[in-house]
Amino acid sequence: MKVILFGKDGQLGRAFQALLSERFDAEQLLFLGRAECDLTDTKKIEFALTQFEPKIIINAAAYTAVDQAEKDMEAARSLNELAPACMARYAAHNQAQLLHFSTDYVFDGSKVGWYEESYAVNPLSVYGKTKLAGERAIISAFGNQQSEYGGYQIFRTSWVYGDGGNFIRTILKLAKERSQLRIIADQFGVPTSAGWLADMSFALGSKPSDSGIYHAVPSGDTSWYGLAVLVIQSALDLGVQLACKPEDIKPIPATEYSLPAPRPANSKMATDKLRLALGKAGQDYVFPEWQGQVKMYVQHLATQGLI
Ligand SMILES: NC(=O)c1ccc[n+]([C@@H]2O[C@H](COP(=O)([O-])OP(=O)(O)OC[C@H]3O[C@@H](n4cnc5c(N)ncnc54)[C@H](OP(=O)(O)O)[C@@H]3O)[C@@H](O)[C@H]2O)c1
Repeated sequence: MKVILFGKDGQLGRAFQALLSERFDAEQLLFLGRAECDLTDTKKIEFALTQFEPKIIINAAAYTAVDQAEKDMEAARSLNELAPACMARYAAHNQAQLLHFSTDYVFDGSKVGWYEESYAVNPLSVYGKTKLAGERAIISAFGNQQSEYGGYQIFRTSWVYGDGGNFIRTILKLAKERSQLRIIADQFGVPTSAGWLADMSFALGSKPSDSGIYHAVPSGDTSWYGLAVLVIQSALDLGVQLACKPEDIKPIPATEYSLPAPRPANSKMATDKLRLALGKAGQDYVFPEWQGQVKMYVQHLATQGLI
């Protein structure tokens, strides 16, 4: 079964490269980054797909510069809506499976408790609006078409970290340089390991399973402040020298840290639908607590000399 991966150089893309290289022979795989396929050009996407004829299409690419997107709507739309729409049209007409990734930013964050997939969307930012438009374009391209290997899964995830720039690495860098940090304590979500996300989404998407939107995050939840405290404590426990200790982190409200793009205050997404679908597809999948995965990630960074 041939698998094509768009966005090979992002956090999720790198996680997919590692996973797929272990499971498939090289001739069954095509990994494309910006240099090989600029996704702002849908002709290049169509060309790559028609030449390679994949049965599974993974779209790990996106316009993810959330604040920059406020001033760059066309570029965000091109990557987040038009590119996945093009992939979906190919998949729908060629009985291929599309694995796509979306975001908690489709919600406005005003809900109390956990967001289910069916809950009303209301994105606050250009990034969130273009990601939502991408979801809708995929659903519309498929219409009612679905066969054993033809369909789509849209995985909405949050607070991703992996091989690349992310909040955890920024916090560790700042904690080396500064003796005090101020971190937002009234925005809540679930940190998600790119490696876990790739593994779990492929477990569902590579088996015959229902098309649809799935919330895809590990168990538990926290605030940015809670995440920063755990990251710094984990690094100190490993013997990493930091100028900032957990007690030196000041929790602040989001109103004290203004950014161009508004973020949802609550990003907590319920994963019951995904758990059921994995069970139905015969995948006995474990949803780990976010804390254990973050600790492992910090350990990985420390052993790689990346802190
Ligand atoms: N990061 C998060 O916290 C988060 C949260 C919720 C949802 N998500 C979603 O999860 C998915 C994966 O996110 P991620 O963190 O892995 O993102 P990422 O690290 O920013 O990777 C995005 C990739 O898209 C590529 N890309 C951008 N413009 C391109 C273009 N014109 N042509 C080809 N490739 C292009 C980038 O290429 P370059 O490497 O060349 O720049 C990059 O490799 C995305 O769908 C994102 O929306 C992420």
